[in-house]
Amino acid sequence: MAECALSNADADAVRAISLMICMGTCCYVKGASAHLDDLVHVVQQKYGDAVHISAGTCLGQCLLENNEPPYAKVDDEIIPRATIKKILGCIDGKISGVG
Ligand code: FES
Repeated sequence: MAECALSNADADAVRAISLMICMGTCCYVKGASAHLDDLVHVVQQKYGDAVHISAGTCLGQCLLENNEPPYAKVDDEIIPRATIKKILGCIDGKISGVG
């Protein structure tokens, strides 16, 4: 029987969902920072350590012809016109296994 090499901390890190808010110029100008404090508060209250939040640089989406900033990224899923409601819906989908 194979032994599991992950510590509890490693296992928690593996399960954590990654939420990245794009703070590149285009997304910033289109309001990415406007609700950031509210978003961080809501996500931390609702999901705790199950979601790792970060702010990042341009995701490259603003270079597309039909771009829809501001963008966020939940794991590998890009969210255009990212609102708190859309981001929470995406996280809920990932947690429930639907997303
Ligand atoms: S600045 Fe956000 S995708 Fe480029």
